[in-house]
Amino acid sequence: MFAKQSALIASTSCIGCIVNALPATVANSIIWYQCDQNSTIPYTCGNLTVPLDYSESNSNQTFTLSLTKVNATTQPSMGSIIFNPGGPGETGTDFVTDLAGPLLIGTGATLPVSCYENDADRLLAYLRTPVTTNTSDTALGTMWAVKQSLAQVCYENAHEIGDLVGTAFVARDMMQIVDALREDGMLRFWGFSYGTLLGATVAAMFPDRMDKVVLDGVLNPTQYYEGRDIQELATSDASFAGFFNGCLAAPPGSCALARPNVTASQLEQDILDLLYDLKYNPIAAAPAEATTIVDYGALKSAITLSLYGPSYWPGLAVAFDGLLQGNASALVAFVGSVRSSTSLNLIEVNAAIRCGDNSLRGKYLKDVLPVVDALYNESFILGDIEAQVTLTCGTWLMQAKERYEGGFNEIHTKNPILFVGNTYDPLTPLVSAQNASAGFSGSVVLQHDGYGHSSLAQPSLCTAKTIRAYFVNSTLPAPGTICEPDVPLFSNVTMLEVLAPIANLTKRGLNTEDDVALLTAMKRLSGRVDMSRVF
Ligand SMILES: *[C@@H]1O[C@H](CO)[C@@H](O)[C@H](O)[C@H]1NC(C)=O
Ligand SMILES: *[C@@H]1O[C@H](CO)[C@@H](O)[C@H](O)[C@H]1NC(C)=O
Ligand SMILES: *[C@@H]1O[C@H](CO)[C@@H](O)[C@H](O)[C@H]1NC(C)=O
Ligand SMILES: *[C@@H]1O[C@H](CO)[C@@H](O)[C@H](O)[C@H]1NC(C)=O
Ligand SMILES: *[C@@H]1O[C@H](CO)[C@@H](O)[C@H](O)[C@H]1NC(C)=O
Ligand SMILES: *[C@@H]1O[C@H](CO)[C@@H](O)[C@H](O)[C@H]1NC(C)=O
Ligand SMILES: *[C@@H]1O[C@H](CO)[C@@H](O)[C@H](O)[C@H]1NC(C)=O
Ligand SMILES: *[C@@H]1O[C@H](CO)[C@@H](O)[C@H](O)[C@H]1NC(C)=O
Ligand SMILES: *[C@@H]1O[C@H](CO)[C@@H](O)[C@H](O)[C@H]1NC(C)=O
Repeated sequence: MFAKQSALIASTSCIGCIVNALPATVANSIIWYQCDQNSTIPYTCGNLTVPLDYSESNSNQTFTLSLTKVNATTQPSMGSIIFNPGGPGETGTDFVTDLAGPLLIGTGATLPVSCYENDADRLLAYLRTPVTTNTSDTALGTMWAVKQSLAQVCYENAHEIGDLVGTAFVARDMMQIVDALREDGMLRFWGFSYGTLLGATVAAMFPDRMDKVVLDGVLNPTQYYEGRDIQELATSDASFAGFFNGCLAAPPGSCALARPNVTASQLEQDILDLLYDLKYNPIAAAPAEATTIVDYGALKSAITLSLYGPSYWPGLAVAFDGLLQGNASALVAFVGSVRSSTSLNLIEVNAAIRCGDNSLRGKYLKDVLPVVDALYNESFILGDIEAQVTLTCGTWLMQAKERYEGGFNEIHTKNPILFVGNTYDPLTPLVSAQNASAGFSGSVVLQHDGYGHSSLAQPSLCTAKTIRAYFVNSTLPAPGTICEPDVPLFSNVTMLEVLAPIANLTKRGLNTEDDVALLTAMKRLSGRVDMSRVF
């Protein structure tokens, strides 16, 4: 039983593997096969057997990584690109088979870590957990106890495999894939969010084997491994403020919350007053499928989700507008429409990887309170969301067998890395991209001047072309390059309308259909990255 679960966990902690244009003669060790699919993009599935435990050189135990590849649209191919959409633990399959553009290809199916013996137990534990540590005066203490209980049940039911989960092993898995592909032995990688931490780790562990590495939506790798990632919230509040600025600046009729003669900061304060009042005066919503009470936790969840991408903002504005009039229907409808299909089990998968990686532990709540306080201080809007991670890891009872401990300074990769940082990213701020870049010689940060999580949240043809030029021609942008997004905030315009002027400008010399396809691919990626990060 455990041998099987080990395999599941390991492939969970693995990656989505986009494999670009695989020559038919390679891949002796990857068993490619036709798989069930219902996708507009044809893809092939593959299995690769890798060691279960890299730290035990005498062990025979293995597990099977599940891979998916999508062929390159242009031949001859320039080599495979391995792709990680973030998470951690998020399956890459849906992500990639759903999108694919000129640059994109294939993924790895994932199977989850399991702490609870059945879904009923899992659901019970979930319902017992406050939505955030700040839903009430008692929520922080309750959350600590709930997380202790989670840590115990995970240890009880998964400790034989829990220490085999971690980013260093996943980095080694990736290099096994590179070897099995039998191309040039070099890694081409494109990672978002948690995928940037994986990318920074693999680049630090195997600097000589890096070809092209794009890391978009970057975590501060040092703070991640310490379990004190305060910097991740550096622009969360600015991104929330951007919602209100954008609302008032938008064309009349496009933001339901817009009112005459009000400033953005007044509007924001009204919503915050409403939010905190909901702690004491929740609203009963009209009969609804799942949510019948709109309280602080419900609204905070809706806000958090919306900060991932401005495409949610018009819906959130309608919901806010309703709430200001005491009508919760729109919020209920909004939450229903964006509710992620993310399985509850991802909470366990996320915890196993992230907490297994970091060294933050406490015996009592007071031991980790300084971290909680620092998060609260860094962001009033997401501090109590991220504090859950601190409590989950503070109580965690397992540790990855291998942790990368070499630091992130003066790393000389064979080829320079391209980092992408979003000006108003609510969770992976530009400053973290700059921090990571400072440790990798020759690397460059492309500043994507938009809102949402990673550059995909508010697509930009400029960003897309910069990334493509890097993959195709090894061209890095000049340091200080800033790309503006092409999709305005609170806009209902279609992608083609957005592109029309660009298409006209580029008609001579550039393939406009290609531009459209590229931006459409980026747009499809939008909103699909890393929705499971909050646990
Ligand atoms: C494939 O997707 C279409 C559209 O979503 C759906 O109608 C159809 O039932 C699916 N087929 C299979 C075999 O899943
Ligand atoms: C991908 O390319 C290979 C080699 O040309 C081919 O055998 C395979 O059928 C292609 N896969 C798909 C899904 O088109
Ligand atoms: C691929 O791996 C899965 C899971 O280990 C297994 O069920 C399946 O039979 C394998 N397929 C092939 C073609 O080896
Ligand atoms: C590895 O496999 C060999 C031969 O199959 C066996 O003799 C040995 O005991 C195995 N080692 C472990 C650690 O399981
Ligand atoms: C907004 O302010 C202007 C100028 O102070 C005033 O004329 C107008 O009546 C105000 N509109 C509303 C709806 O309060
Ligand atoms: C509440 O808002 C919804 C639209 O979201 C509307 O259909 C409904 O009539 C409103 N209810 C009341 C009591 O105004
Ligand atoms: C609180 O935040 C401010 C501004 O972000 C910072 O200067 C200060 O050091 C922080 N204090 C603590 C205790 O984290
Ligand atoms: C916690 O809630 C109080 C109001 O109840 C609010 O003033 C404070 O900003 C909140 N802090 C965080 C980090 O959510
Ligand atoms: C990056 O962040 C880490 C952790 O906060 C810090 O120790 C390090 O000095 C930073 N590096 C640079 C170049 O700012």
